[in-house]
Amino acid sequence: MTTSTQLAPVKWENDALVLLDQTRLPVETIYLNLTTSEQVWGSIRRLEVRGAPAIGMAAAYGLYLGIRGSEASNYDEFWQELNQQADYLGSSRPTAVNLFWALDRIKARVEKESGVSIAELKAAVLDEALAIQKEDAEVCRTIGEHLLTLLHDGMGILTHCNPGALATAAYGTATAPFYLAKERGWNLKVYADETRPVLQGARLTAFELQQAGIDVTLICDNMAAMVMSQGKVEAVIVGTDRVAANGDVANKIGTYGVAVLAKAHGIPFYVAAPLSSVDLETPTGADIPIEERPAEEITHGLGKQVAPDDIKVYNPAFDVTPAKYITAIVTETGIFKPEEIGNSKK
Ligand code: MRU
Repeated sequence: MTTSTQLAPVKWENDALVLLDQTRLPVETIYLNLTTSEQVWGSIRRLEVRGAPAIGMAAAYGLYLGIRGSEASNYDEFWQELNQQADYLGSSRPTAVNLFWALDRIKARVEKESGVSIAELKAAVLDEALAIQKEDAEVCRTIGEHLLTLLHDGMGILTHCNPGALATAAYGTATAPFYLAKERGWNLKVYADETRPVLQGARLTAFELQQAGIDVTLICDNMAAMVMSQGKVEAVIVGTDRVAANGDVANKIGTYGVAVLAKAHGIPFYVAAPLSSVDLETPTGADIPIEERPAEEITHGLGKQVAPDDIKVYNPAFDVTPAKYITAIVTETGIFKPEEIGNSKK
């Protein structure tokens, strides 16, 4: 399923979770071998694995690592341990709902199989984690096919953060049409926002698209308005960490600003969202928990101190784009107006 030009961020190999350390890209390609749920928790928190679907996949394997040594002697004991581990892994990052979706999906599978042996329950946990990863690649490809129907050859498209192959099992969500267009011989021109403060756009999106031979141009976040005013961008496509029931969308900090700019320039703004990111239990964007990250990401974000000692810092990792700025949300089940996102799961 994955093309040879795409790096796999999450792998299950030799009874261990193997993660591509995304904090080291694009300079070094280093894989981490994780064998405990504590290690997985730390990797998620430190952004060694990041991007909503990849966080969900990693947490799913983390749950298996957390319970595979369980000495529970009956279902109730096992269920309690499973829930403790799920709560623990769920405390690693708050915004991407895929994390909770993956943990809940595994719990539902275990509940369904409650009559079998503890060894079989453990096997079911791993089996479900593997299924989550396998399905994600297909979901991303389908989202890409839907998005392609909104695009045409030669188009300029801006994206923000890394909603790419590095954030998913394959293809990415918002980047899926770029890979599919390439397979079909189209020439899309992608503009990648660098995405301060930790530069997922520069370090990851620019890197993976360049590796795949896709025409990508890196810009600083504050250049998006200029590039749009010059007519170089005909669509914006971003990913998401959580879509609320009213169509508001949480994504990497800076997305909201890009959406406002797109509206001001009459450019369509599309959100690529697997159903695992659609959270109909959360009524509006105001109800989405927004992670705040350490001040050092801003004060020392470019490898050296770039701000005065002891400066006050505000560092929200995500913002919420109100539904009114969004042209469409594209899921594996189709293309939806934001106010109709409730229909995506019917
Ligand atoms: O902090 P990150 O790198 O995990 O944030 C990632 C994003 O905001 C992505 O755009 C989002 O998860 C979509 S990934 C398909």
